[in-house]
Amino acid sequence: MKFQAIKGVRDILPPESALWNRVEQAAREVFATYGYGEIRLPIFEPTELFRKSVGEETDIVGKEMYSESDPPILSDPKFIAGWNKVKELAVAYDPPLGTMGDESRQQILAEARKWLLAGYTSMRWSIEEALENLISLRPEATASVVRAYIEHGMHTWPSPVKLYYVGPMFRRERPQKGRYRQFYQIGAELLGPSDDPGLDAEVIEMLLAFFERIRLTGATLFINSIGDKNCRPAYVERLRGELQKVRDKLGADSQRRIETNPLRVLDSKLPEEQPIIDRLPHIADCLCEACREHYEELKRQLALRKIEYEENWRLVRGLDYYMRTTFEITAPGLGSQNAVCGGGRYDGLVELLGGPAATKGIGFAIGTDRLILSLQNEGVEVSSTPDVFMAWLDGSSYQEARSLASVLRGAGLVVEIPAKPLNPREALGLANKRNIPIAVVIGQNEVSAGVFSIRLLSEREQFKAVVANAPEIGRLLVFRALLERTLRQLAKRIPTAEAEPSFSKLLSRLEEQNMLPGTVSYNIRRAMEVFDRVAHNAAVNKDEMNTAVASALFALQGLSRSYGAQIPLPPQS
Ligand code: HAM
Repeated sequence: MKFQAIKGVRDILPPESALWNRVEQAAREVFATYGYGEIRLPIFEPTELFRKSVGEETDIVGKEMYSESDPPILSDPKFIAGWNKVKELAVAYDPPLGTMGDESRQQILAEARKWLLAGYTSMRWSIEEALENLISLRPEATASVVRAYIEHGMHTWPSPVKLYYVGPMFRRERPQKGRYRQFYQIGAELLGPSDDPGLDAEVIEMLLAFFERIRLTGATLFINSIGDKNCRPAYVERLRGELQKVRDKLGADSQRRIETNPLRVLDSKLPEEQPIIDRLPHIADCLCEACREHYEELKRQLALRKIEYEENWRLVRGLDYYMRTTFEITAPGLGSQNAVCGGGRYDGLVELLGGPAATKGIGFAIGTDRLILSLQNEGVEVSSTPDVFMAWLDGSSYQEARSLASVLRGAGLVVEIPAKPLNPREALGLANKRNIPIAVVIGQNEVSAGVFSIRLLSEREQFKAVVANAPEIGRLLVFRALLERTLRQLAKRIPTAEAEPSFSKLLSRLEEQNMLPGTVSYNIRRAMEVFDRVAHNAAVNKDEMNTAVASALFALQGLSRSYGAQIPLPPQS
């Protein structure tokens, strides 16, 4: 039997997983600078938690959760015994009753009734117990965060409490590009006594700071206010009234929602319903004074931060706990599933789940799968090529190569060391084939002289370095390789005479074209000057080499700022 991942569930493999790690790491770093701490939540919770918070009538709770009884009903002996009784009953009915005499028929029916009752009694208790003890894989995490907030008495912590989470969620949706049954979210929640619109704006600001850090381009922020328990019920009734008038023109889903949740009709994507929805009353015209002021202040706070947004009166979101602010962010390259993030305010949720009434909340969740798709669409990738290929020529140099590899790994470089000796030609061939920019070769001669040979594959340059300087030289070489890779990528935009110009020609050409900001050019040249001295075996001290690495890092950061997603992200310092 050939096993395959279940429909809608997938493996994330290297090198793509490197981009996932980079993105999640950036979220951790950016969120930490806004004072958020990580909360690690359970993957499953009582089903009731989601029913109560996300809402009984929502798609998520109504048809998309993966639920099971605890303990699982199929391993309950009472259930199995009941099932066996019912099965026996089916067999008992098998003889053709019609051809039997009255007496035998009565006998079989009485017997069958007995079995049926026994089966029913045995199964009934298991099924009823199972229904009372359902657990579900989490379809989202806001409910869990609020459960944890109440359970751990976080209302006594200094407020507001700021939490973020990273991890998988589960929804049984129809799989397509950007929509999976196991998908991943990066989310954040802010809970506390204040519902100041400045907090809403800061949450959005943090989200956009994260998108900027990872160079997501072309994202659009949509905002709306859906009122609160004072003004929304009247709007919902008005909407219901208007929808009743056009009921016949609506699809089956929207017709059902007129009764269950008319707001969700605004979410409809059916083309034939669009002109009808366009004529429905807008919630903005029905907000109470307090909600209107809250929304106006939110817009003012966004403007203060120079955050651009579009208002979308149909943005009601598919979860019941929202009130007032709702927002969504779309990103390019995703087709129909283009919402890369959704969020909003949920002031009544803590109280609904049994916590203090005074606690308010706001947050968002980013769909990591979609975020990665959009970044890949922009050409962003994280290199997974090793930095150094550490070849050894014979048994006597293996030990030295191994210890040099550990020193370089200690300095943060990715080192590949082959399991068998190679001659220099084989070593360079292999490094070239795998696109590894630096090859180090160690043989008996090197071991006795306390040096190692370095070959820069793109420059066809070779030189020797002292083992004691290995970490600094290794780092310098890796940054040089990164700079080179980045400049070659940029140079693709200009026609050049040579296919593979040397590093210095490449640099001059980009400078001539005014493609490098002044500070970037300055920092690259500073780093290269030290590098050239190293390559010519001149005396260079460790401080000089470390300063050169810092210059290279500044240059890479500058390039990344200027050219955004089109060039590789600079390494973390
Ligand atoms: P949501 O809009 O249901 O909100 O999900 C947030 C994001 O998760 C979506 O914008 C989308 O990017 C991603 N997502 C949802 N379903 C899938 C799927 N099947 N496949 C791939 N990506 C998906 C929430 O979950 C709320 N808890 C957000 C929140 C936090 N509101 C306040 N705090």
